[in-house]
Amino acid sequence: MSLFWRNFLLLAGLLALSVLAWFQALRTLEQEPRALQSAQALASLVNLTRAALIYTDPIARVALVKTLVDEENVRIAVRDAADEHQPYPPGTLGARVAQALQDKLGPGTIVAREVNGFDGLWIGFAIEDEKYWLLADPSRLAGVQGRTWLVWGATALGLSLLGAVLITRVINRPLQQLAQAARRVGEGDFDGARLDENQPTREIASVNHAFNAMAARLARSEADRRLMLAGISHDLRTPLARLRLEIELGVPDAATRSRMADDVAEVDAILAQFLDFARERPLQMEELPLGLALERAAAPYRGRSDVELHVRCPAELRVRADATVLQRLLANLLENAARHGRSPDGTVRVEIDARRNADGTVALRVRDHGPGVPADALPRLTEPFYRAEAARTTPGSGLGLAIVRRGAERLGGRLTLALAEGGGLEATLHLPAA
Ligand SMILES: Nc1ncnc2c1ncn2[C@@H]1O[C@H](COP(=O)(O)OP(=O)(O)O)[C@@H](O)[C@H]1O
Ligand SMILES: [Mg+2]
Repeated sequence: MSLFWRNFLLLAGLLALSVLAWFQALRTLEQEPRALQSAQALASLVNLTRAALIYTDPIARVALVKTLVDEENVRIAVRDAADEHQPYPPGTLGARVAQALQDKLGPGTIVAREVNGFDGLWIGFAIEDEKYWLLADPSRLAGVQGRTWLVWGATALGLSLLGAVLITRVINRPLQQLAQAARRVGEGDFDGARLDENQPTREIASVNHAFNAMAARLARSEADRRLMLAGISHDLRTPLARLRLEIELGVPDAATRSRMADDVAEVDAILAQFLDFARERPLQMEELPLGLALERAAAPYRGRSDVELHVRCPAELRVRADATVLQRLLANLLENAARHGRSPDGTVRVEIDARRNADGTVALRVRDHGPGVPADALPRLTEPFYRAEAARTTPGSGLGLAIVRRGAERLGGRLTLALAEGGGLEATLHLPAA
């Protein structure tokens, strides 16, 4: 569950409860004064009617009753002991009014919502021994309509939910930005990871400030490391070239000379990796035929009897990449297969296949039949200077896969490593197709 939904549900639940509580409170508060008011009005009506009936002569009485019907919508009927009446259910406004009317007019007063099957607001009263019903307009008792409550309740709830969405968004946004920036730093993009320090809330401003400081420090140390590596490698190459010359000229024994020259070449190759890793030239992206790039990378191995390369790549397959970087990636993968991927029989068998995926990327798979690496070492292979146990005795810098991974990411792709079924390592480059 995302933080947004959790916060939203909590807030929405809280607001819904509070709306409900208000609703109930308003209803209760509104009911009592309304009941007393209605009871007062009805009591006056009953008293007036009673007085009028007592003090008018029989002829005027008929006119009076007619006036009551016309003007007040009130009817008078004689009450019989056999009349069946239904009281208002307890807890309703009607029951409360009945109670208040009995307090005012005496305990003999009856208030009913139905008499002999006729709906209405019936009030039973007596004049001396004669008993009467007074039928009043039941809308006198109607509280605020259910629909009105519903409309107001829905409006309040809707506004609350809207508020909950807004509040949750405000709470979440800085957190989201922080997560995004942290991911960028994780990917090595220090410049894109800057957070806005001009925040209205102090806590978030201080978190963003601390994060920026951390990212800046990481960027500086990364830059320093590269600068140092490049400087050292560069400086070592000059004496190394001199050494090569001195070996050529000064070592008389041919076998020794060749061995020493190999060592020098190896050191030189490691220094070249250091420089590759440390220096990043600006990219020149172009559309390149992948088959051709593969052929060029495979060329050094074509003459070797112990290396078998099987390349399967559709001729028309093209990728968008920087030519130098692409060549370096391929060279490193093939070199690893040739160096670390030897089968038990001493030969190196490498299968290379490329295909275009539906998502507009090209997957280039380089698979050998060597011993592979222990599964737990797999995620670490692309770390700079990491070399699995078995590789410690072979020459190398431990930078090859780090260069491949970073190169692939700079080209907008990625590198995945897996242990192939039946043994061997399987490196797959995902690159944007042209
Ligand atoms: N094809 C492979 N088969 C087995 N192990 C490999 C293969 N490619 C790379 N590795 C392992 O990954 C490590 C890192 O590779 P890399 O960065 O190219 O360094 P290097 O080749 O200089 O040792 C190697 O030292 C080796 O242990
Ligand atoms: Mg390597």
